[in-house]
Amino acid sequence: MTESAGHPASDQSPFAGRRVVLGVSGGIAAYKAVLLCRLLVDAGAHVMPVMTAAAQKFVGRATFDALASERVRTSMFGEDDPIPHTTLGQRADVVIVAPATARLIGSYAAGISDGLLTATLLATQAPVVVCPAMHTEMWEHPAVQHNLDVLAGRGVHIVVPTDGRLAGGDIGTGRLAEPETIFEAVAAVLAAEAAADHTRQPESKRDDFTGMTVTVTAGGTREAIDPVRFIGNRSSGKQGYAVATAARDRGAAVTLITSASLPAPAGVTEVRVESAAEMEAAVRERSGADVIVMAAAVADFRPADVAPHKIKKGELGDADTVPQIVLEQTTDILAGLGAAKLAGQVLVGFAAETADVLDNAADKLARKNLDVMVANDVSADGAGFAHDTNIVTILLADGTVRPMSKCSKREVADAVLDAVAALRR
Ligand code: CTP
Repeated sequence: MTESAGHPASDQSPFAGRRVVLGVSGGIAAYKAVLLCRLLVDAGAHVMPVMTAAAQKFVGRATFDALASERVRTSMFGEDDPIPHTTLGQRADVVIVAPATARLIGSYAAGISDGLLTATLLATQAPVVVCPAMHTEMWEHPAVQHNLDVLAGRGVHIVVPTDGRLAGGDIGTGRLAEPETIFEAVAAVLAAEAAADHTRQPESKRDDFTGMTVTVTAGGTREAIDPVRFIGNRSSGKQGYAVATAARDRGAAVTLITSASLPAPAGVTEVRVESAAEMEAAVRERSGADVIVMAAAVADFRPADVAPHKIKKGELGDADTVPQIVLEQTTDILAGLGAAKLAGQVLVGFAAETADVLDNAADKLARKNLDVMVANDVSADGAGFAHDTNIVTILLADGTVRPMSKCSKREVADAVLDAVAALRR
């Protein structure tokens, strides 16, 4: 039933021979699932489509019947297979839901099986990629965001919607990601699974950092104004701790230089620091490490003079005189490491950005002579400070750009270490 492929699948394709359940729920964006189906089939995937009843109001099942590798399934009952949901779930290498409505996301998060698609999602052990699409108000509703956080916390990959024209002519966030973006995100999930499968083999279990020293920094530094006050930032340290934990699990001897107040992971050498200057000194002592990951949010500026006592109201004259804090620049620790990089050493930076994310990150990667840069849009929903999830793009010095869907900080950590391990080989 497969239409002839426009682009023949190469053996390198992460989709070659992989079984993909493509779940389509009811939304105007269902037409994009047709294009996604075509991309997947062209890449060599075996696509098994599942449509909800509502989806069939937007796209006819005949379209998917013609394009996919198997006939569309729509119901738990009345088709050849008495238990289609477990059969599909067990056969799948990955399950995609595109578009995923608020209702579908809610049912999945709550564990409610109210149709073949939700039943398949609950029955599968395969990785799941959920691609929401809905009106902006629904997308921003705390219930929807909470459900997505619940799913992401369980390891479900979320491909976030974009801004643009929505049903009814409205403009806003909630537009299904483009089929190519979803395709790339699923490719990354399959590639990561393949790598994890490989490392699950007994002879090469996750010990690819054995014998390596890894220095990780985490947390936001605090720059004293006086003995009581400081200038800080919103970094929680969670991403750096996840990197330290993952490196430890993969066999590295890890030093974690941290200004965060989280408990140190067992088996990791912890060095507590407060200011950028203390962090710089601690990093310098461990600058011979094989791998250095600067996940800390190091202050760029600090008060030029630190008052030796608590600054009191009125001490500068009359009660209305406010102290002026003059700032000076701190040392760029990572740029210093990059300028003196040792042979074979791998340097990783994190770029916390709120605009022009990839351009700024690529610029910092080159400027600081890094090998890997993790670009992080800290203003995106479910990303950045304090969240347990993150949405990052991994950039390599050779120009590789690897976008990741929303996932746990541990998954980001492992993807970063996968990139480091490949460079060390
Ligand atoms: N960094 C560092 N020392 C500093 C500032 C930043 O080592 N004084 C490191 C961070 O740990 C991070 C990377 O540099 O890994 C990028 O940090 P970021 O704050 O995003 O960039 P900046 O270099 O400060 O640039 P900008 O002010 O333009 O954002």
